[in-house]
This record gives sequence, C-alpha cells and structure tokens, in this order.
Amino acid sequence: MLEPQPVIGFYSDWDAGTVWKSRIEQDLPQFHFDLLNEVEDKSTVRYALVWNPPAGFLKGFVNLQAIFVLGAGVDSLLKDLELPRVPIVRLSDAGMAQQMAHYVIYGVLHFQRRFEEYRQLQAKRRWEPIEDVEAIQQFSVGVMGLGAIGSVVARQLAQIGFPVLGWSASPKTINGVRTFNDETSLSAVLSESRVVVNLLPLTDKTERLINKKFFRRMSAGSFLINIGRGQHVSDKDVLEALDEGLIAGAMLDVFDPEPLSPQSPLWNHPNVIITPHVSGLTVPQAALDQIIENIKRMETGVAPHLTVDLNRGY
Ligand code: GLV
Repeated sequence: MLEPQPVIGFYSDWDAGTVWKSRIEQDLPQFHFDLLNEVEDKSTVRYALVWNPPAGFLKGFVNLQAIFVLGAGVDSLLKDLELPRVPIVRLSDAGMAQQMAHYVIYGVLHFQRRFEEYRQLQAKRRWEPIEDVEAIQQFSVGVMGLGAIGSVVARQLAQIGFPVLGWSASPKTINGVRTFNDETSLSAVLSESRVVVNLLPLTDKTERLINKKFFRRMSAGSFLINIGRGQHVSDKDVLEALDEGLIAGAMLDVFDPEPLSPQSPLWNHPNVIITPHVSGLTVPQAALDQIIENIKRMETGVAPHLTVDLNRGY
C-alpha cells in the first residue's frame, strides 16, 4: 500500500493560512499542507505550525516531530499539559522586532514630548507651549528583556539619542546600551529610567514581576510600556501606581485576559494608552524562511535552530 503523503499542519486563531500553504507547497513539495482542525488522519501530520491552539488540541497527533510556534512567546503553549513531547521551535524576530521598536519609539517620544498634555490642551482649544520638556539626553529608557526583539528595540532607542539601560536574565552586549543582568542591578535600572519597557518572556520567574513593589522601585513620575504579556503585570497595581503618582502613565498592548474587558477602568484612565496586542505582528514570509529552513534541517537529521528550553520556559 502507498504511504500517505506526510502533512505539515497549521492552526492559528487569526490567520486562514493561505500564504503559508502556497509557500510550503512550493518549498517543501514532499509535504501536503492542511489545516490541523480539518486533517483527516492525524497520524500523517509531521510538523505542526500553531498560534494559540486550545489546550489539549495537539494531543492526538501521534507522529509529530516538532511544533513550530508562529510568534515570539511560547508561554500559552507550555501551559498545555497534554502537549506532545517533541521539540518546540519558536521564531526569532520574524519581522516583529522592527514593528515593536517603532511602537516603543512612538511611546517614548509621546511621553518625553508630553503629547498627552497637548491632546488635553487641544480638546480645550488652548494654545499653551509646555516649557519644561526633558532633554532626550536625560530621558533614560530601561528595556527589560534583550532577546531577538528587545535588543533591536534597545539599539534603535540608543541610535535616536535616548540613554538606554538594558536588563536581561543572562549577560548581553549591545552597542550603545548599558546592560545589566542581576537582581541587584534591576533596582538601578528601574530608578534611573524615565520609561521602562517590558519585553521579557513570560515564565514562572517573570509572572506578575511588574507589581506594586516594582513600581515603587521606578523613579516617581516615570512611565511603563508593556509589550510583553499581560501576565507580567497586575492591572490593579498599575491603576494604584498611577493614582498614587508612583508612575505618570502607561502604554499597554497586552492584557490578562485578552481581550481587555469593556468594564476595565484602564480604558478611560487619562494617562493610559491602550492598543489591542498589535505592537508586532508576525510577518509570514519572514517566519516561513525560518520554519522551512528548520524543517529542511530536521529532515536531514539536524536539530532545528531556536528550540525552546523547557526548564527556562522560552
Ligand atoms: C505575540 O505576542 C508573540 O509572542 O509573537
């Protein structure tokens, strides 16, 4: 009997898979591309490309050789206790870093040039130049997380002229950025930064790291930009920190849970900017370059690049 053609399966809660299908069929013609929730025989699926599958969704795929995550963060997948025990491969940048750097630059300039206040003055039809704008050379930005995305964000902020302090779990060297990597130096980074940008991976160690204690370590009147995960932060603590003046404003792209509830008081807080998890979207062609290369490696018995370390959690 003829062996059935092996399948590369796809599941995403926001993408129908059209671009992925045509590129995979062109570059890996030995495979058939199928949507994971439509595939007839689960045992034919060799590689799964997924974003946000429901818990337990991948359990019946008994011949999987690897799971490719279509984003940077793998936290939600790792929570699935029934996940097949195969290598999990994540993306590195895949077009997200540049978009996220732009998002952060916009936010940092918004706070440094006091655009929030101009918006309020405009609503009152008032022509009032604000005199005391802090010089860019004094407006330090702390970037938490210096992986494939954080390092690009830190470098680009430094290129514009902001002093940048980078913090990460392991030592990193980035041109023009002062880098730190231990718990003691975290206080120095937080107290020196006018804006703290969160780009850490979500792990047991970083969950709710940004809490009241964290805000107290930040310099009074500074700002938070969160483009990591909602679970890094406590919304209640953000609101209290704003109301007690521990921080002056926040730009938030991620929430726990998502979508942010219409009832959340964050929506109409005057010093909060909210976006719906859009700071960096995976660029399919860039992601496909990495995934196709990794599948080709695995097909010749070579380990894929960027396998998730389950102990580390990213
Ligand atoms: C998006 O949040 C991602 O992790 O890629």
